[in-house]
Amino acid sequence: MRTQVGIIGAGPAGLFLAHLLRQAGVESVILESRSRAYVESRVRAGVLEAGTVETLSALGLDARMKRECMIDDGLDIRFRGKTINLDLPGLTGQHVVIYGQQEVVKDLIASCISLGQPLEFEAKVTGLTGLDGERPEIHYLQGGEDKVLTCDFIAGCDGYHGVSRAAVPEGKITHYEKTYDFAWLGVLSRSRPLPDMTYTNSDRGFALCSRRSTQVSRLYLQVGADENPEAWSDARFWDELHQRMFDADKVEIVEGEIFQRDVARLRSFIAAPMQYGRLYLAGDAVHITPPTGAKGLNLAVADVRSLAGALGHFYRTSQRDKLARYSEHCLKRVWRTVGYSTRMTELLHKFPEQGAYRRELQFAELDFIHSSRAAQAAIAEQYVGMPYEPI
Ligand code: APR
Ligand code: PHB
Repeated sequence: MRTQVGIIGAGPAGLFLAHLLRQAGVESVILESRSRAYVESRVRAGVLEAGTVETLSALGLDARMKRECMIDDGLDIRFRGKTINLDLPGLTGQHVVIYGQQEVVKDLIASCISLGQPLEFEAKVTGLTGLDGERPEIHYLQGGEDKVLTCDFIAGCDGYHGVSRAAVPEGKITHYEKTYDFAWLGVLSRSRPLPDMTYTNSDRGFALCSRRSTQVSRLYLQVGADENPEAWSDARFWDELHQRMFDADKVEIVEGEIFQRDVARLRSFIAAPMQYGRLYLAGDAVHITPPTGAKGLNLAVADVRSLAGALGHFYRTSQRDKLARYSEHCLKRVWRTVGYSTRMTELLHKFPEQGAYRRELQFAELDFIHSSRAAQAAIAEQYVGMPYEPI
């Protein structure tokens, strides 16, 4: 098979990229190792920055999102009996949209199919060759057969555990990584959510109350790094959440049936540069941001907006100047975003090894934010997201 851009991965990065390239008149083929059902069943975050919403709208893919999303105007942070309430429109003139990533993925896949965008499921990429040449190749296994996709360019959108990053020769890419000694236990429950995104730093650890609809809550607890989600009965989860959210009387948080559980270790990861020869890396394939900032999907979209811009420019003008700047352009946003998510992680979690001194500094910082509009504006500005800067 032959195409202009071979895309590895049908997560948000790969799916958005294919649509953005199509809008620029550039052909692509997406190769996804998993089945459609598996990809669409993965529960991930659900906060869309304005840039991501604008991209969905510009692609004409925002109809269901507009019908079903919720507007997030406020962000609360609870600590030691106090609540910091960030009035997002008042502080930034903006809000964010709550719409599950898996819903975005479903909408993008449905669009690929209706547009006839080549999207191969259960096509596991096993290797990349010719990255230094003019005709790189993607080798993949599908239906028990070894196949090859010949391209002009390859987009590695295959996530943290994918193969594209590993195809970059040793010494041509640097990894920056920090792994935390804790994880997030995430659940979906059939229960009315809190009205606002609510984080808490309690003496029992971090908790977060988010939502997916007016009847479905998305809830998180900080747990041990290797926690087994099945060790948490509904009763145990709810009891812990009430306590961490300072709702010990159980009057505020509505309980319900928990129908999905997952555990994700917290880490930061950045690989630089985000390109090698004809290979361009985007999304989780090249960076992981701690989930505290709710930035993973939004950062992936910013990457592929730039990659699509650079590739479209090349096919229109034969100029490679924007492609040459892809990594440098994206890394500015990546480092700033990982920095924000890291600061929020370090502000809101209870660190196993932290002593009383560092714990008191955390609460002093929270107290300062509670009293300072400037400090609140700084967090709010980063939470709603930096404006997208075209490549
Ligand atoms: N061959 C083909 N596909 C692969 C391979 C492979 N060898 N390895 C991984 N994939 C696929 C995965 O099955 C997945 O569907 O690549 C896709 C990568 O998607 P994501 O991991 O969702 O990464 P990305 O598209 O960058 O989106 C980032 O997704 O995981 C969340 O928190 C993350 O919100 C962030 C967003
Ligand atoms: C979510 O809704 O899944 C969510 C919200 C805020 C975060 C992380 C995840 O910081």
